[in-house]
Amino acid sequence: MNNNIDHIDPAKDMNTERGNGGETHQRAGDDTKVLTTQQGVAIADNQNSLKAGSRGPTLLEDFVLREKINHFDHERIPERIVHARGSAAHGYFELTESLEEYTTAKVLTETGKQTPLFTRFSTVAGNKGSKDTPRDVRGFAVKIYTEEGNWDIVGNNMPIFFIQDAMKFPDLIHAVKPEPDRGFPQAASAHDTFWDFVSLSPETMHNLIWLMSDRGLPRSLRMMEGFGIHSYRLINKEGKSTFVRFHWKPVLGVQSTTWDEAVKISGADPDYHRRDLFESINNGDYPEWEFGVQLFTQEEANEFPFDHLDATKLIPEELVPVKVVGKMVLNRYPDNFFAETEQVAFCPSHLPPGVDFSNDPLLQGRLFSYLDTQLSRLGSPNFAQIPINAPKCPFANNQQDGHMQMQVPKTRVLYEPQSLDPTRPRESAKRGFNSFHEQLDDGVKGRVRDESFADHYSQPRMFYRSQTAIEQAHIASAYAFELGKVDTAHVRTRMLSHLIHIDEDLANRVATALGMELPEPADAAAPVQDMATSKALQTIGLTPDSLKGRMIGILVAEGSNSSEIKKFEDAAKAQGASVKIVAPNKEVVLDDGTRIQADERLAGGPSVMFDAVVSIIMPEQAKKLAKDSAALDWFNDAYAHCKAIAYCGATDEFILSKLPIEKDEFVTPLAELDTFITNAKSRLWEREPKVRDLA
Ligand code: HEM
Repeated sequence: MNNNIDHIDPAKDMNTERGNGGETHQRAGDDTKVLTTQQGVAIADNQNSLKAGSRGPTLLEDFVLREKINHFDHERIPERIVHARGSAAHGYFELTESLEEYTTAKVLTETGKQTPLFTRFSTVAGNKGSKDTPRDVRGFAVKIYTEEGNWDIVGNNMPIFFIQDAMKFPDLIHAVKPEPDRGFPQAASAHDTFWDFVSLSPETMHNLIWLMSDRGLPRSLRMMEGFGIHSYRLINKEGKSTFVRFHWKPVLGVQSTTWDEAVKISGADPDYHRRDLFESINNGDYPEWEFGVQLFTQEEANEFPFDHLDATKLIPEELVPVKVVGKMVLNRYPDNFFAETEQVAFCPSHLPPGVDFSNDPLLQGRLFSYLDTQLSRLGSPNFAQIPINAPKCPFANNQQDGHMQMQVPKTRVLYEPQSLDPTRPRESAKRGFNSFHEQLDDGVKGRVRDESFADHYSQPRMFYRSQTAIEQAHIASAYAFELGKVDTAHVRTRMLSHLIHIDEDLANRVATALGMELPEPADAAAPVQDMATSKALQTIGLTPDSLKGRMIGILVAEGSNSSEIKKFEDAAKAQGASVKIVAPNKEVVLDDGTRIQADERLAGGPSVMFDAVVSIIMPEQAKKLAKDSAALDWFNDAYAHCKAIAYCGATDEFILSKLPIEKDEFVTPLAELDTFITNAKSRLWEREPKVRDLA
């Protein structure tokens, strides 16, 4: 146990003095840094403003007070229009297999080299201060500081998007954000305007079903896949183009929470994902992803039963395998949240030479939006100079002035062509970014969507039919929950009319859960195809056989058996899990007399924060806890969320036997330590229909 207590003697606190009015002053000693104003003038008193008399008015002359308050008054900048809530980390990218045949980009051809990067994960709909665990798509944005310039892969944890053309993005976001008249709901898609918009926009059906799946409820940021989504191009030294889709595959596998759990976590710990990222990096458990590419030619794309320029379509891995060619490791939490996580500016148009765009109309619109929005979010065209945004390779251009210019160009010449300063930068046809010389068809200019984008149901059908039975039940239940929050009956009916095309069984389940009749199917714009199912689309079916990245909660109390606690702790940690001690009080004395500090008090450490739980308590304590609803919820929730539970005799006698908890194969006595450790790697999903009415 590493819960030993380090009580600092308050009397030993640094150079503390009491002022005239009883206020605390901490004075700098000879070796201490001195507090100064922004101008570097040392501050004598950081507790009192300058007054005319000790009880008199404050004087305008007080430049120390004015500077301090003035800076404070301007601490906030606008949050992102979308993806406002985010958490990030530094790390590196390492290529394991060269893509030289396909591209000239050094970051994709030089193996073994570690290139620094910064990755930010986010929710989409919620404000900056919203919770980490709503049902939502997660942003997955990676900025790789390559030696040929920054490369931003600005993707999501789902391989497709809601809409096909950037023209619709403001409508989508206005529909999902809090409704403008009432200002709610926060961070939620379960409301009328969202479902009104999506049910009138059948192109959203594919991303919607992903959102309704367990992918919308990630267990950890470390357990999410990332996707670049759009097709991009790789360009090799002969100028040949190959299409590519980018993938990040988490080493810990894709894992999710249940909906009920996510709701409860958001109350217990709104920072659940951010804390998990922070703690795992600080513990040396560095989050890691494989980097993969799906490569295909124009000729191959012509044979796909969908248009790869349509961002609502994924390319099944069975059709084009994901070739793993590198990895990303996150090994350093930011030093300062605002300076780095908040000020970072990703932009899909940041690419190194050798990578290029496709004509995906959603991507094309994004190329404008990010730079534009960042100008108002960060307040100046010089935001690229902020350390987190600046390239780590040499850079030089003739841009000048503007708000907050940090560079001091030492030249007369900030234009070109020029003949006055030979040290100034010049363009380079050889090293520069050359756009792919694409032969465009002689299409007619116009606002038209190609009919190859008209198939809205085949891929959601493929997704639904690829899931395990329990995942399908989760999807149906999620539609029922969300549509249950929609008060406008015709919106619910319209949604059901789409679900019929995806899968009639799904539509029936949702209709039954809502107590509604199935309507006529929607008018499909293109025939629905039965595509082959794809196991790669599952999550529960692919849960890794590992305890790595999981968190075990051990409930202890006064007099608990110290060696038993240690046994469980050691066994869990040996397999890569983390352990947290939960106790009714913050400090407890165990049977061997050691006083330990709990990681969480029971009232603040519900079992939703853990992947599996253990209870080691003495009979007197168990009797007390049997009357405490927080303790009863601890066990009831662990059971209802299909988790492994290991219990001692007193827990069984005074608590479990009084609760509706069956002793199934995942509820085991302490003596069966090995069974518990095996069970803790997954969940007993067969238990779920017994504890929850799934659609
Ligand atoms: C495939 C579709 C899309 C994906 C995967 C995507 C992903 C993301 C991600 C991950 C972020 C957060 C970046 C960060 O962590 O700072 C973001 C921000 C943003 N996205 Fe998108 N997005 C998509 C489509 C669009 C479209 C079509 C538009 C507009 C036409 C758009 C506009 C924005 C804006 C304005 C921000 C805020 C950027 C900032 O303030 O730095 N996105 N997007």
